[in-house]
Amino acid sequence: MCGIIGYVGKREALPIILDGLHRLEYRGYDSAGVAIVGTKGAGPNAEGGRVKTSRAVGKVAMLASSCAGKTLDGTAGIGHTRWATHGKPAEKNTHPHADCTKQFYIVHNGIIENHEELREELKKQKHVFKSETDSEVIAHLLEDAYKETPVLEQAVQSTLRKLRGTYGLAVVSSYEPEKIVTARMGAPIVLGLGEGENFVASDASPLLSHTRTVLYLEDGEMAVVTPTTHTIVTLDNKAVERGTETIEWDADRMQKGGFPHFTLKEIMEGPEVIENTLRGRLITEDGLAKLGGLQSISEKLREAKHIIIVACGTAFHAARVGEYMLEEYAGIPVEVEFASEFRYRKPVLDEHTIVIAVSQSGETADTLEAIREAKRKGATTLGIVNVVGSTIARETDAGIFNHAGPEISVLSTKAYISQLVVLALLTLTLGRERELSLTMGKKIAEALQELPKKIATILKQEKEIKKLAKKYAKYEHMLYLGRKYNFATAYEGALKVKEASYIHAEGCGAGEMKHGFIAMIDKEFPTVAIAPEDSVYDKMLSNIQEIKARSGRVLAIATEGDTRIGKLADDVFYIPKTIEMLSPILAVVPLQLFAYYLTLERKLDPDRPRNLAKSVTVE
Ligand code: AGP
Repeated sequence: MCGIIGYVGKREALPIILDGLHRLEYRGYDSAGVAIVGTKGAGPNAEGGRVKTSRAVGKVAMLASSCAGKTLDGTAGIGHTRWATHGKPAEKNTHPHADCTKQFYIVHNGIIENHEELREELKKQKHVFKSETDSEVIAHLLEDAYKETPVLEQAVQSTLRKLRGTYGLAVVSSYEPEKIVTARMGAPIVLGLGEGENFVASDASPLLSHTRTVLYLEDGEMAVVTPTTHTIVTLDNKAVERGTETIEWDADRMQKGGFPHFTLKEIMEGPEVIENTLRGRLITEDGLAKLGGLQSISEKLREAKHIIIVACGTAFHAARVGEYMLEEYAGIPVEVEFASEFRYRKPVLDEHTIVIAVSQSGETADTLEAIREAKRKGATTLGIVNVVGSTIARETDAGIFNHAGPEISVLSTKAYISQLVVLALLTLTLGRERELSLTMGKKIAEALQELPKKIATILKQEKEIKKLAKKYAKYEHMLYLGRKYNFATAYEGALKVKEASYIHAEGCGAGEMKHGFIAMIDKEFPTVAIAPEDSVYDKMLSNIQEIKARSGRVLAIATEGDTRIGKLADDVFYIPKTIEMLSPILAVVPLQLFAYYLTLERKLDPDRPRNLAKSVTVE
């Protein structure tokens, strides 16, 4: 996600926009830029018009430095702080983007799915592109539309009708200097209403020092904002009357979307994260995935005889699930290794080996060095990374971005479910080139599409999980049990508890329980058993019976409609049914919330766990 802010009024726009971008930095921070509509100087038809810009790679502070010494005066303008999705962090890819005549400037949050076809069409009409982004097509479409209809809001309206995908958009033009046109489809836009001045932003956090009177656009709406007016219409030009709201929260709470912690906010983003990870990547009717980032190694993938996945921490647990997916549905042998082990041992690799790095940050030192070692030995490398432009993303031969948005919390939650979805998409891609049938491919694709609403169902039961955490917070030890696809879920659920609440939680493959772990069980050592109705369900029931026989308390994660497990376990949390390979994506969500609320019960701050960093960039 990116941060957008616009101002139009009686004050100089630049300082207001820069301050606003600082407050939006949590939404994206790899590059930032401003476009200020000058009130004096060259007229709209001079080269570069009356709009002056500045852009910088890095944090907003870099942009502020780049603005110093430039003439950026004007009482209207837009700004953007970027979280790259298409095109690495670089000045040429930094918003605002302009058309060929530099009379129209746009800032965009979201993904334009049909940007490639639009770009090709515009190039045929001799438009010259400066960036690698999807967003830039909007500026060039606007240039053509304005020639047809020289009214900014009408030109924007006809432009928006050509777009497919999501946008939170703001537009300024030298032709109509006291106007911002903004629109929303799938990415938030809020208007801030002041005295003789008005604001546009991605959320209200940058507005609070100017006004607390706001109104929110809905999907499919566009607004025209001037210093003293704001009008809202739908894309088919129907007027919209929208009342204002008064923001009570402070800026910190705003940045957390109204949640008390980034950890909870990011868990709650689950449905949207899955939608964004899947966006434009599923061809359901053919049971296929479309992963543009793999084109450069498509032949290597077709010839692959062996996959090794290297990762750390939560990403390692995602890799363990990916191993089972790829072996069962793509028929390729897979090894999963801690990157910190892989890089120091003598792995056997050859030109038919694909080494995959899974890493949210794309900067984890061990994972990066493991990839470098793999490349030295001639393997083809592939990154599953959330941060565009990160080192692992740049050094792997190809990759798939999560599009999960910035993950601020030290606890990796939304990135984990996105990693599992990406691994499922990779399984579809590799499997359908091998033995995976159309029928099964379609079944996997359809099950992926159902995930967002199933996760939303789980999140609606947050209060029930909070109650369970209250019951279990008194224990100092916990055993997490899972098998097969939920073997890794057991370890991931335990890691969340360890790193946030400091309770000693032990992940354990349930088949291993009797090889030592069960010795720890007594009434002070409860077990969380992940036991959805799948191919190893009966085995899990036996494990639960063995735990109960030793006075161990059991909290089970089970499938809705299961009538047996409630007779055995002390507590049960039910999750919606899905296909076995995707059950870890649903099973982990209550465990993330459980860990979060255990942490609160222990009066700890889940956003600031002791001894941990968000990205382990040193060994
Ligand atoms: C997960 O909650 C932890 N914060 C940590 O284990 C993390 O997953 C690990 O450091 C790997 O980070 P990466 O995905 O950025 O490489």
